[in-house]
Amino acid sequence: MIFGKKDHLVGLDIGSSFIKVAELKVTGKGHALSKFGMARIAPGTIVEGRIADMEGLANDIKTLFKSQKIREKNVAISAGGHSVVIKTINTSKRPEKALHDTIYSEAEQYIPYDIDDVNIDYQTLGESEFSPDQMNVLLVAVKKDLVAEYIDLVHLAGLNPRIIDVDTFALQNAYEILPYESREKITLLIDVGASKTSLNIVKSNVSLMMRDTVSGTNQIIEEISDQFEITIEEAEQAVNGEANDIVSQGMIQEISLKIAQSWCSEICEVVNTYQSSANDEKVEKIILSGGGVFIEGFQDSLLSELESDVSIINPFEALIVNEKKFPDSFITQAGPLAPIAIGLALRRVDDK
Ligand SMILES: Nc1ncnc2c1ncn2[C@@H]1O[C@H](COP(=O)(O)OP(=O)(O)OP(=O)(O)O)[C@@H](O)[C@H]1O
Ligand SMILES: [Mg+2]
Repeated sequence: MIFGKKDHLVGLDIGSSFIKVAELKVTGKGHALSKFGMARIAPGTIVEGRIADMEGLANDIKTLFKSQKIREKNVAISAGGHSVVIKTINTSKRPEKALHDTIYSEAEQYIPYDIDDVNIDYQTLGESEFSPDQMNVLLVAVKKDLVAEYIDLVHLAGLNPRIIDVDTFALQNAYEILPYESREKITLLIDVGASKTSLNIVKSNVSLMMRDTVSGTNQIIEEISDQFEITIEEAEQAVNGEANDIVSQGMIQEISLKIAQSWCSEICEVVNTYQSSANDEKVEKIILSGGGVFIEGFQDSLLSELESDVSIINPFEALIVNEKKFPDSFITQAGPLAPIAIGLALRRVDDK
């Protein structure tokens, strides 16, 4: 029973500046976009990945579900940033049970946290490129207190958290269903959010390298607030285009470009590190997502510094979209911000 099976989840991406929600329907022709919406949350609601205003954020989520008329209560959410550690480790080949024990006993050396403070998960990636007796294992550790906080939040919003994913994996999940992508090309997926950036180099749907940094569009707001001695709220209003006597749009553009160039340098470093570890195999494609894509000059700086194709993700391309419900103009604006919510909505209740 495919259509009657009720195992789908609503994807809920709780970003530090925008929450996004997506619901998909499985049809005979593929995944159809059933619901999608976003809402800005007040500055200071989430600080360094921690929820500072639980009630306020739970209400924002409730309001968003109501405005999108989403009745499904089972959701998939994700964690990212500081509280998640992702490492590829190399270990000798062994049966599943033995591997499980080894990972749990050795994990501590790879994680900067006390082992009792994290939830651990892993996935075997296949044979090591260095030795046929060895295999690569992707190790993921998420801080328990952070997970507990997000579970409480989701409950407070009247919903059931069924899957806790990782932002970077959810983004990769959305990328993997995109049509026309040449999977065998080494591709760098980048998400520049408000408070963090995640980088993931993939080839044939296998991740080769992952990095998280604390870069993001908040840097622009903080820099403007510092330079012009105005509050974060005033700086944010200025960045959102509200007329301001102290800081002109030209100055905002100049500051934004400088910060976007620092993102580029950071990205180039990761690309170079990867390429030199992989016998100079080139990163051929870069696919951007997150609010950072809207910063003028970011894409051009990347193009001029790297010899890769650079494009912006449109995760809706993989879905059947009713144009009356979701007009083109909306899709263009929302596309770069939507992939994590869509990647989460693709999960099923019994997914690992
Ligand atoms: N149309 C736009 N024009 C300019 N900037 C935009 C636009 N839309 C979003 N942004 C910027 O992008 C930011 C939001 O990006 P995004 O939704 O990726 O962040 P987030 O997911 O909330 O953050 P994080 O993942 O870091 O917690 C906003 O704070 C804003 O600075
Ligand atoms: Mg985000």
